[in-house]
Amino acid sequence: MFLRRRLPLIAASGVLLGALAGPRPVHAGDAAAGADVFRSECSECHSIRQGRNKKGPSLFGIVGRHAGALPDYHYSEALQRADWTWTPEKLRWYLAQPARQANPGTKMKYDGLDDAEQRDDLISFLGTVR
Ligand code: HEC
Repeated sequence: MFLRRRLPLIAASGVLLGALAGPRPVHAGDAAAGADVFRSECSECHSIRQGRNKKGPSLFGIVGRHAGALPDYHYSEALQRADWTWTPEKLRWYLAQPARQANPGTKMKYDGLDDAEQRDDLISFLGTVR
């Protein structure tokens, strides 16, 4: 009896609290979670240390960097020709599909990251690496 009368009240206050907290801001990735995504998805080929190139170029300071811009990494012609800056939006687009589709002729062999939340987390993390 007690619980039945109280339940709607509890449910209503839950809705109210949810409304006060507001919706989750769009693209507010979790950088700590993004570090894990980086480790499992990218670190085989990329380092975040400045000047440390592996199979792929260092991703230190990648957010805001022009594509194909590191002087000490040997890029494919495809990426040398890429005329864009790695903004969060561009990274989101690039990582959501196979790299060879986004940039035909690239030597990055990666099929893309399907999970949008993981992409946002990863891009937030990359934004802290500078
Ligand atoms: C199997 C190896 C491999 C994996 C895994 C990989 N990459 Fe790459 N990546 C490369 C290579 C190689 C290049 C250089 C491509 C070229 O020159 O065409 C590259 C280039 C890039 C570039 C362009 C850098 C620049 O200086 O313009 C970005 C951005 C990038 N990778 C992000 C990522 C992210 C983020 C992940 C993880 C989600 C990832 N890559 C996973 C191999 C990889």
